[in-house]
Amino acid sequence: MRSLKIAAIPADGIGPEVITAGLQVLEALGQRMGDLSFDVTTFDWGSDYYKANGTMMPEDGPEQLKGFDAIFFGAVGAPDVPDHITLWGLRLPICQGFDQYANVRPTRILPGIPSPLQGKKPGDLDWVIVRENSEGEYSGAGGRVHRGLPEEVATEVSIFTRAGVARVMRYAFKLAQSRPRKLLTVVTKSNAQRHGMVLWDEIAAEVSQDFPDVTWDKMLVDAMTVRMTLKPESLDTIVATNLHADILSDLAGALAGSIGVAPTANIDPERRFPSMFEPIHGSAFDITGKGIANPVATFWTACQMLDHLGETEASARLMKAVETVCADGVLTPDVGGDATTQQVTDAVIQAIHGSNE
Ligand code: IPM
Ligand code: MG
Repeated sequence: MRSLKIAAIPADGIGPEVITAGLQVLEALGQRMGDLSFDVTTFDWGSDYYKANGTMMPEDGPEQLKGFDAIFFGAVGAPDVPDHITLWGLRLPICQGFDQYANVRPTRILPGIPSPLQGKKPGDLDWVIVRENSEGEYSGAGGRVHRGLPEEVATEVSIFTRAGVARVMRYAFKLAQSRPRKLLTVVTKSNAQRHGMVLWDEIAAEVSQDFPDVTWDKMLVDAMTVRMTLKPESLDTIVATNLHADILSDLAGALAGSIGVAPTANIDPERRFPSMFEPIHGSAFDITGKGIANPVATFWTACQMLDHLGETEASARLMKAVETVCADGVLTPDVGGDATTQQVTDAVIQAIHGSNE
């Protein structure tokens, strides 16, 4: 019996609703597999914790997480706490503190989920976006002087290091190499941003030498939005900076039908620390408490978590169950259905038990 130690941080908004769904599905998967179980510890960190304690997590929070195999994260953000506090108080310290430098965001059109792209169906859009997750525009470097005065100045400095760019580039080339099409698109804005982005282009060319079987090309980020929309089948693996990939991954989610189905993995490829798995959608206050949050992104990120932990059979089984349920039309309202979170969850659990491969 293999037992995986999972730290669950449901946090804010619909986070608890989708993480509850995700844990139910993992439990069922463990039973179905017979030789796999999940030892889950749930942490109450987030905006409510902040309102009670003045910090989003305890000071030794990261220390408490170190011994886990993985972190299963819901969402952060509350209407009455500034976003930069929730973000810099919980999610970024974990990503950056655990050096989860590769943020991996698969997007596909799932069966049964309509894409806003006319005539596009499953298979026409099958991408993985690799987002640099430790520096760039999210480095937090900068400051403000002369606060509130007319001469106030704020700087927001992007930091690109050779080591930081090279490691995520290598990760992306390797990932592209592992996929059937062996195709990588490197996204920058090196026409206008002539320092950091030119460094990206140079490093891409250098790293590509070690991957002669990977076909790769370069795109400027603005032109990339057009290509994603008009020629989705021309793309496979994509690598971009922290901010560019943040924006492109929302577009990707929308083009695949909903960001309610889009997952993300914050990976420490060197496995020095636990990696963190979460849905992309965020806390979604407008639907919090209504029981209609789409749990598919959380199930999909659970698949990423299982893959990362070497449980590829369990992962494939879960993904297949999710696809079966979507194809059967058991969908939440964001993707055109009328099912609740629990109904989708129950259907996936049933599909897990029903599948006999
Ligand atoms: C994401 C999110 C976050 C980000 C937000 C919540 C700050 O949009 O994971 O894509 O920009 O990193
Ligand atoms: Mg985003």
